[in-house]
Amino acid sequence: ILFITSFSILSYLLGSIPTAIWYGNAYHSIDIRLHGSGNAGATNTFRVLGKKAGSIVLFVDALKGFLATSLASVLFYMHQVDWQTCVTLKIFFGFLAIIGHLLPVFCNFKGGKGVATTLGMVLALHPAAALASILIFLVVFAISHYVSLGSMVASILFPVLLTWGVFGPVEPAIIYFGIFIAVLVVFTHRMNIVRIFKGTENRMYLIPAKK
Ligand code: G3P
Repeated sequence: ILFITSFSILSYLLGSIPTAIWYGNAYHSIDIRLHGSGNAGATNTFRVLGKKAGSIVLFVDALKGFLATSLASVLFYMHQVDWQTCVTLKIFFGFLAIIGHLLPVFCNFKGGKGVATTLGMVLALHPAAALASILIFLVVFAISHYVSLGSMVASILFPVLLTWGVFGPVEPAIIYFGIFIAVLVVFTHRMNIVRIFKGTENRMYLIPAKK
């Protein structure tokens, strides 16, 4: 119980690290929330501060989810919990990291949209399905040039692929979690959805057009 409580707090604090905000402040002296889409996430960092900054924020934000989720494996290898409990705790710790990213204690509970942190979490939870989701994201993004649409479609198809049994049998808790995350991701992207319908959503290009 002591481990679970401290790992829960640790997961939330890990998720709370506002990578995009701190990186922007430290290396570019700007508040990322006042530029681009205003989102404190990897996509907006790519958009406003470029590839290097965006890649670092993406990596660190994903790492937060990955590490928090992996805390459950530590308990498993310490023989503190059985495998079933380990899976449940992975979901729980990972979810707390995502909540930390969305509502960070370090900056007035206003964080990002949770996509990178969810990716890291899912990579630790179900690597094969996570890689399939990355592929789906890339295809949708390459066609539409909307990062937000890629994020939403990938999140929605994640539980769908698991339900279809594409990756063999899977713990029902992971599917329920996937459904919940899909709803959450659509919710955090509600303004993006409005902008997509209005035609004002920011497009991004893997290979920038030459001027
Ligand atoms: O990960 C967030 C992404 O899906 C959308 O970001 O900055 O375009 O709102 P943004």
